[in-house]
Amino acid sequence: MTDGPIRLTVLVDNTPGPGLRNDWGLSILVETSGWRSLFDADTDPAVLEFNVEKLGVDLASLDYAVLSHYHFDHTGGFSYVAAKRPGLTIYVPPGPVDSLKALGLRPVITERTTRVAAGAHVIGPLEAWRGFYEQAFAVELPNDKILVLVGCSHPGADKLAKRAAEDTGMGIHAVLGGYHSPPSSVIDRVAEMADKVCPGHCSGEAAKNYAASRYPDKYCEIRTGLRMEFGNP
Ligand SMILES: [Fe+2]
Ligand SMILES: [Fe+2]
Repeated sequence: MTDGPIRLTVLVDNTPGPGLRNDWGLSILVETSGWRSLFDADTDPAVLEFNVEKLGVDLASLDYAVLSHYHFDHTGGFSYVAAKRPGLTIYVPPGPVDSLKALGLRPVITERTTRVAAGAHVIGPLEAWRGFYEQAFAVELPNDKILVLVGCSHPGADKLAKRAAEDTGMGIHAVLGGYHSPPSSVIDRVAEMADKVCPGHCSGEAAKNYAASRYPDKYCEIRTGLRMEFGNP
């Protein structure tokens, strides 16, 4: 488990936040007392840079990053990340790592669920379609549950969440990130497993509205600039 509170800052999401820039993409900063990590890096390095500076967060002291999958709306801003933090270790699914190496990052391919830091697990990867993989990022909370961060959920947000629960042996507090316009059955299965259902990025209004109306006590909204804190110090 991770000591102290876990802080998330949504640097970019499809849904705008006041005074910030946004586009179609996702990037979330995760901070604990022991490490600082970036999950995905949005589409546009200029958008990411603008929000990082406006929000006053520091990417130069990142300990590592996690890439969910090789789509531009998750990889695009890594050129900015590499400029701020050269040589950063980035846990990636199998795929075209050379583009990240060329930026001066240090990609490490995760072939299976891997503990990458105290209370931090890269989950999967799951095959979304032939030869294309996506992984999730699970962070242990002081209440012995996990947060599950998902990028686009091409293999299914429910499947990524299920794998996270199985591989960590822990219950799920929240599933946050892109659910990729899922059918309502996917939302239902996530809601069965998790205390909180937090569809952002590519989830779509229909899925968000379904989650909010069907599970009002579990729904949480994701938008650019949102800061969330989990657990007690
Ligand atoms: Fe995406
Ligand atoms: Fe994607």
